[in-house]
Formats: sequence, C-alpha cells, structure tokens
Amino acid sequence: MRLGILPGFGGSTRLPRLIGVPAALDLILTGKTVDGSRAFKMGLVDDVLPREDFTQRAVRWLAARLDAAALERVRAERRRRRAGPPAWALEGNPIGRAVVFSQARKSVLKETHGHYPAPLKVLEILPHTCRGPIPEALALEARAVGELLVTPEHKNLISIFFLTEGAKKEPATPQAVDVKAVGVLGAGVMGGGIAYALSDAGIPVRLKDVAPEPVGKGLKAAYDLYQRRVRRRRLKPGDRDKKLRLISGGTDYAGFARLDAVIEAIVEKMDVKQAVLAEVESRLPAHAVLLTNTSSLDVDQMASKMAHPERLVGLHFFNPVDRMPLVEIIVGARTSPAAADTALALARRLGKTPVVVRNAPGFLVNRILMPYLNEGLHLFRQGVHIETLDQSMVDFGMPMGPLRLLDEIGLDVADKVSHILGAAFGDRVDPAGVLEAMVQGGRTGRKGGLGFYRYRGGEATPDPAVYPLADRPSRDTITAGPDAWRERMTLAMINEAARCLEESVVESPAQVDLAMIMGTGFPPFRGGLLRHADVVGLSIVVDRLRALAQAHGVRFEPCPLLVKMALDGYVFRPEFR
Ligand code: NAI
Repeated sequence: MRLGILPGFGGSTRLPRLIGVPAALDLILTGKTVDGSRAFKMGLVDDVLPREDFTQRAVRWLAARLDAAALERVRAERRRRRAGPPAWALEGNPIGRAVVFSQARKSVLKETHGHYPAPLKVLEILPHTCRGPIPEALALEARAVGELLVTPEHKNLISIFFLTEGAKKEPATPQAVDVKAVGVLGAGVMGGGIAYALSDAGIPVRLKDVAPEPVGKGLKAAYDLYQRRVRRRRLKPGDRDKKLRLISGGTDYAGFARLDAVIEAIVEKMDVKQAVLAEVESRLPAHAVLLTNTSSLDVDQMASKMAHPERLVGLHFFNPVDRMPLVEIIVGARTSPAAADTALALARRLGKTPVVVRNAPGFLVNRILMPYLNEGLHLFRQGVHIETLDQSMVDFGMPMGPLRLLDEIGLDVADKVSHILGAAFGDRVDPAGVLEAMVQGGRTGRKGGLGFYRYRGGEATPDPAVYPLADRPSRDTITAGPDAWRERMTLAMINEAARCLEESVVESPAQVDLAMIMGTGFPPFRGGLLRHADVVGLSIVVDRLRALAQAHGVRFEPCPLLVKMALDGYVFRPEFR
C-alpha cells in the first residue's frame, strides 16, 4: 500500500480467504508487517519454528505432514486459530461484510482524504476477490494492479521508496568509528528519546544530566516508550527489561573514558554548548566522535572551543525521536570524514533515514519550513481563521496545518529559529511578528497547554483569544480562498528549497524531497516538494512568485536558480520524465 499499489499475484485474493476480511484489510490497507507469533495466531502461517536449526526442523515438520489427512489437520487447526467469533459473525453474511467494508472506507477517507487511489481500489475489489471462483478473482486483482501502476501517486511513492532505500546505503561510510557504547548529554525531551533509540538498537548508553531529577525523567521517558510497545503486545516484558538495562544514568562522567561517541542534547545555548563540548572532549578517548543534536546553532562556532574541532558533527533528530524517521547529518567546515561517517552509520543503525546537509542557518528542513510557517502567520494576521487556514493544508495532504504545527514545535522555539534565520537572511525573511507577542503573552504552544489552540484532555480547540493579535482582516486575502493560501505557503517553501540547492546546503533535489517527507510529513503521494514544483511547472512557479512579490513584498522574489531553470526549461526531478 505504501507503494501506491495493492497486493498482486493472488495477495488480495488469497489473504482474505486465509485470515478473514477484517484482518486482511488491516494488513493490506496499512502495509504493516507482523512477526512470526502474530502470523501464527491470526492463521496466516501453519506453524512457527525456532531459529536454531531452522532448515532441519522445517524439513522434519514437512516430512511428518506429507499425507493428505495430516495436511487437512494442519489446515483445520489454522482455520480454528484465525479471527475470533465476532469478526467471523460480521463477515459471514452479506450485511456484515458490507458493514466491514463501509467502516474501512470511512477510516481510509479520514486518513488519506481521498489522495491515495490504492486503498480505495482495494475496497472496490476485495468484496469480489474475497469469495467466489479464484480465476475470476485473480483476473480482477491483476486488472486493478495494472490500473494503479500507471497513476502518478504510484510513481511518486515508488521514487520515495527507492530514495529511502538509497539513504540506507549511500554514501558509504568507510571511515566510521566502530561505536560500541554512546554517551548522551542532557536527559530532556530529546535526550530521553535518543537514549531509547540507541538502546533499542542494542547500543549501551550512558545518560548524563546536571541533576538526578532530569536523569530520572530521561530514564522514565525511555521506559514509557518501551512500555507502550509492551501494552500493544509488540514487545515482551523480558525484552523491554533487557533493552532498559542498556541505559545507565548519572550526573558525572563515569565511564566516558570508554565511550566511542557522545551525543550532546543539552539546552540550545551557544556558550553552554561550547563549554560542555570542550569539557566532555577532555574525558573521551582520542578516537571518540562528538555529535550535537542542535536544531539551529552553528556547528562550526560550537566546535571552535574544542581542542579537536574535527571531531564534532551535527546529528539533528526530529521530535518525537521514536517516531520521526529523518536525521540531518550536519557536516561543519572542519568536520573530519571519520566524524561524518560515524554520524551516518549511527543514524542508519538506529533505523533512521539520514540526509547530509551543510552547516548553514536552519540547516535544511527548518530552513524550508520556516518561510511556510511564516506565510501561515501572515495569513493569520490578514484575517484567515485558525481552523480554515490549517484545514487548507490538511486538504493538501500535510499531517497538520501550519498554526497547529507551530504549537507542536513550541512557539518560543519557533520564535528563536525565526530570529536566527532573520539575522542570517535579512529583509527577505519578513517575519509576520505574531510569535513574539504570543510568547510574551505566555503562550508556548501545546507543551504549555496554550497556543493558537487550547489543549485540554487530549483535545485541541482553536482559541479565539488570539485574534486580537491579527490586523484588520484583508478582504482580498479572505476572499482569495484556500487555493490561494495554499499557493502562498507552498511557493514560499519551493523558493527556499531552491535557494538551499543554489547554496549547496544539500546535494540534490531528490534529497530535499526525501528530507521534507521524512522530516515534516510533506504528502508522500506528491513525491516531495520539488517534485510538486515540477508538476505545477517551474515557469508558472516563477510567474506566480513574481505576482506575489508585487502584492506582498520581497519575501516572494523568486531566487535566481528558479528563474534560470524556468527559462532553460529544466525540472528538478528529471527522472520522472
Ligand atoms: P530540554 O530542555 O528538554 O532538555 C535539556 C536537558 O539538558 C535538561 O534536562 C537540562 O537539565 C540538561 N542540561 C543542561 N545543561 C547540561 C549540562 N551541562 N550537562 C548535561 N545536561 C545538561 O531540551 P530538548 O528539547 O531536549 O533539547 C535539547 C537539544 O535538542 C537542544 O539543542 C534543542 O535545540 C535540540 N532539539 C530539540 C528539538 C525539540 O523539538 N525539542 C528537536 C531537535 C533538536
């Protein structure tokens, strides 16, 4: 499903017959995988054998069941195991089946807003492929696969699949240090998540903070993340304990002399980071690499107080660490190849998708995201209502709208980053200026319970108390409607992404697309931000940016690279041609 097609070669015909319609829909529509014991329980497989001597055991298992009667016993046993009585009762009659399919359709539409043709196609054919003669079901299934294979959504999703797979291998990391144990400085929101990710990958972690309380909180955060998996039966309590035993915590540098790498995740203050990095460096063996999880600070400046600045590299995780797949690897002017390779190899061991970026203000993802969020703020100031504004981008396919995202990031954090970018890029940033006032008014976003939305008991409701921060509503902006708002917000991102390419912050447009999908949830079915720009057409992008610059100011002035590409008839992702 993640590739924009449906299970062919009999997958959509045999799976529902094997494990029942609800369970088959669950697997097909989500693309999720199940482990051996779950597959056994749901009747997907006949038996599960231990890993040790697997081949011999499998041969013995088969040999004992070669006659038809024994095989029939296996099948009967499998059928007995599969979905319990309620599911059977529901799918066993036409009305029950109709209920199952209509509920599935509702949840697909809620999740995908109709942007993905494959799940809808599954719901169209499965009522026919789950029963009746197999050859006809197979023919129907094959035709559906054929139809999906030629959709743009499939082409976009398959390109992301290959980019993600590529990021697992390229570039190679010949000089990476063999990391056997890692120190994590700062046991806050990010430190706790990073300790969890490291221990989950089997890497021993030493978590250090300035006082016992934050250390305890960091350990608890890791425990909670494992516990959630235990509750969902995705992890055995014994395995949780084994993984947790890999994390130790303290307020001193005990054990640091034996570490191969240290990830710094302390407060976002340059002088504090400089002092702490210089201090920890003196406690580490000569080969150890230092990695900073800064979200906005200059990595070269941070390394300037170190005896060996070449040991420092940026390893920028996104929040929440356990769920966000992207990691930016920030290579400073003095970062050694060994440090860069170590960061890349470590990110891959954690199962993350790394994108290598140059040390430049905002790095890649935040730099592209800020003009988008800023445009959202301009629209808010011009009188667009919170929920209609956010909905316009959800309809485009973003996981949430810009104002809701600002609340998630933290309004104080976003304000800080926007100042850093403002200082770096001057007038063309043109901050909407709302954030500062909100932070001064005590609004920090979701973490403080109050931002553009009010957060109570897991519910977020737009807070009308922030409207006085907007100007007198602009009739032109409001009547322009969602298409025009979306255009402003997406073109702001495209323009900034082109500047990042112009300044070699990132190697290629495909890397921008991968980073924006993995780091911000940019809609995968669109193939990425710059693929979207190609689909719009670069000369249209440039024309529209010029028109917007006339109407709203220099922040929309198209960058030279975009203008040149449009003139020369180039596209960002020629591999789609
Ligand atoms: P936080 O405030 O939750 O945690 C920081 C921790 O560092 C605190 O527990 C504090 O006691 C500790 N600390 C301060 N000085 C220390 C020292 N000298 N030695 C050891 N520990 C020390 O902050 P958060 O959100 O975890 O951020 C940490 C870093 O990660 C910052 O650089 C931030 O910019 C970056 N980051 C944050 C993201 C986020 O969404 N929160 C996302 C990506 C990066």
